Amino acid sequence: MELDNFYQNVGRRNIKDTFKPRTLNHRQDEERRGSRCLVLMTVCLGLICVLLLVIIIFITAERESLVKSYKNSVEEINQTINSLQENYTELTQKKLELESKVTSLSDDLTREASKRGYFFFISHELKSWSESRQYCRDRGADLVIINTEEKQRFISSFAKERVWIGLSDIENKHRMIWVDNSTLNQGFWFKYEPNNYEGNEDCIELNPTKDPVNNWNDQPCSHKRKGICEK
Ligand SMILES: *[C@@H]1O[C@H](CO)[C@@H](O)[C@H](O)[C@H]1NC(C)=O
Ligand SMILES: *[C@@H]1O[C@H](CO)[C@@H](O)[C@H](O)[C@H]1NC(C)=O
Ligand SMILES: *[C@@H]1O[C@H](CO)[C@@H](O)[C@H](O)[C@H]1NC(C)=O
Repeated sequence: MELDNFYQNVGRRNIKDTFKPRTLNHRQDEERRGSRCLVLMTVCLGLICVLLLVIIIFITAERESLVKSYKNSVEEINQTINSLQENYTELTQKKLELESKVTSLSDDLTREASKRGYFFFISHELKSWSESRQYCRDRGADLVIINTEEKQRFISSFAKERVWIGLSDIENKHRMIWVDNSTLNQGFWFKYEPNNYEGNEDCIELNPTKDPVNNWNDQPCSHKRKGICEK
């Protein structure tokens, strides 16, 4: 019995002895596995942190470059506006200078004209040919008669827009006459004029924008133009 007990005890001890290290190994495995897991998690967290940092840096950089490009655009626009304002001021000044030059030139021309024995003036209202003629007559003048190239060049340099001159074929459809009833000897017609377009063009305009010399054109007498008066 005692021997049996002894053997049983030994057997148990043996069993215990054989089991003991196995239990220890198992725990160590678990611990090792646990610590490996911890390391893995730490690495993962670290990676996530690094990733987040990279994303934050990227976003910040992007934002800064956006802000910078926005500032640049604003500056560029501002510069353009400033330059436009400068240009506008400059142009306004130039326009004023040119206008005063034109006025003084026009005065010079009027003076020059009266030196040569002419006296011209422009009616400042847009009127039909007959009304323009009346405007001149009301002021002791008549629509201008142009019978030399010198006078034609002079009037053309003096007029700045389409104007009535004292020539028409109102009285006689087949004969152009001046306001003093003299006949036309030399005409300074624009190409293909007079054409009496639609049979309705009996009054003559001078259009200095077309040609400095050959710039006459027949027009319907009812059209509104300024007129060149000669005293
Ligand atoms: C635009 O330009 C003007 C004049 O150079 C300056 O006074 C102003 O501060 C500028 N504005 C911006 C938004 O840069
Ligand atoms: C202003 O005028 C200058 C030349 O006078 C020109 O080079 C520049 O482009 C103009 N600026 C703008 C914004 O039009
Ligand atoms: C021109 O002729 C018209 C009619 O034929 C006449 O009424 C007018 O008085 C004449 N004008 C001049 C300046 O001779």
